[in-house]
Amino acid sequence: MFDQTQLLELAATYGTPLYVYSADRVVEQYKSLYKYIPYSKLQVHYALKANYNVALLAALRDAGAALDTVSPGEVQLALALGFAPEKIIFTANNLKDEEVAEVKALGVLFNIGSISRLEKFGRAYPGSRVCVRFNPDVVDGENAATATGGDLAKFGILMQDVDKVVDIARQYDLHIVGLHEHTGSGLQHTESVFQSMKNLMGLAGRERFPELEFLDFGGGFKVPYKPDEAAVDYAAMGAEIVRLFEDFCQTYGKALELKFEPGKYMVAQAGVMLTTVNTLKFNRTRTIAGCDAGFPQLIRPVFYGAYHQIENLSNPDGERKVYDVCGNICESGDRFAEQRELPEIREYDVLAIYNAGAYCYSMGGVYNLRSMPGEVVISNGNAKLVRKRLSNQELVSNLLAESLV
Ligand code: LLP
Repeated sequence: MFDQTQLLELAATYGTPLYVYSADRVVEQYKSLYKYIPYSKLQVHYALKANYNVALLAALRDAGAALDTVSPGEVQLALALGFAPEKIIFTANNLKDEEVAEVKALGVLFNIGSISRLEKFGRAYPGSRVCVRFNPDVVDGENAATATGGDLAKFGILMQDVDKVVDIARQYDLHIVGLHEHTGSGLQHTESVFQSMKNLMGLAGRERFPELEFLDFGGGFKVPYKPDEAAVDYAAMGAEIVRLFEDFCQTYGKALELKFEPGKYMVAQAGVMLTTVNTLKFNRTRTIAGCDAGFPQLIRPVFYGAYHQIENLSNPDGERKVYDVCGNICESGDRFAEQRELPEIREYDVLAIYNAGAYCYSMGGVYNLRSMPGEVVISNGNAKLVRKRLSNQELVSNLLAESLV
């Protein structure tokens, strides 16, 4: 998808480490869901936690996307960028009362995932419209940290507590207009999507919830990370989703809106991080390629053991050798890849780390006081630097400016 010559040019122009995104690909991914899930009342809410780059958000806003937000900061950003409050769903967990008040005043719909918060919300804001999040009791995800259903998850209200939800709503005149579940990120089995839908729809009868306007089945659509990984058959999955949902709507007696909240699916493949190898080292059994970025700038391999494809852009036809691709942080675990076969790496070669569009920049930090990379967005073939990398002086003066010492 990325033109390798263009990536090398961008690395030369702006320096590395550098994130490069394709806004066109993000919008394509967004639109593809409307093709794969042919249901007239589908609304896709992009899970903005995956990547909050302002240029990508603007492209999605212009394409008509709605948003899933998880913090008051995300809601403030979405509103500042001109997303209408009606297009924003707020699915935070473990909120402080002050945060609830802040977001309530902004007019976005709350999606509440605990009995305790539902009750406090009802007491504070009787008569409100609200969405309720259930734990779908299906366990799936790319790894244990991203499975959000089942007994080990902190999210959602247990399905067995559905009558408590109804009682609280009655007591405080809450209008439950939506029900929600999110099973996990990077769902490994399409069957999990269907089973979670069935579980939520099993609770959603008209007698209990007469005012429903939508059901929201969260995110989690998987994308391939490894080169040989099979892609999900999204057309087949979408057809089954529509069949299940239309059946439900018929029983409910109303064509409800169908919502999904994908993050990874929308942006993962649309991003790449470029990093330059500055040091080669031979450590008895390992050849180490030392890069000018580390795990704070792209954390998924270290945090989740995630696989990210890497290419040597400067020497694509080099003889294949095995490397530990390491970062520049003072920790031994600081690796983007371990024992990875790659075309021969020479010092000053530029590497591309793929599928870096989701949960990479957004999970980043400045540990060891190294700035986050700059960000370039390609739109209609034109590349533009949309966020610069802070110089070391700027990083330090910001730190000192924030300091009250
Ligand atoms: N909806 C809710 C309520 C969520 O909690 C999430 C993700 C999504 C939607 C979007 O899920 P997605 O489509 O992106 O899988 N940092 C992890 C993923 C964490 C996902 C957190 N919640 C990773 O890099 O794999």
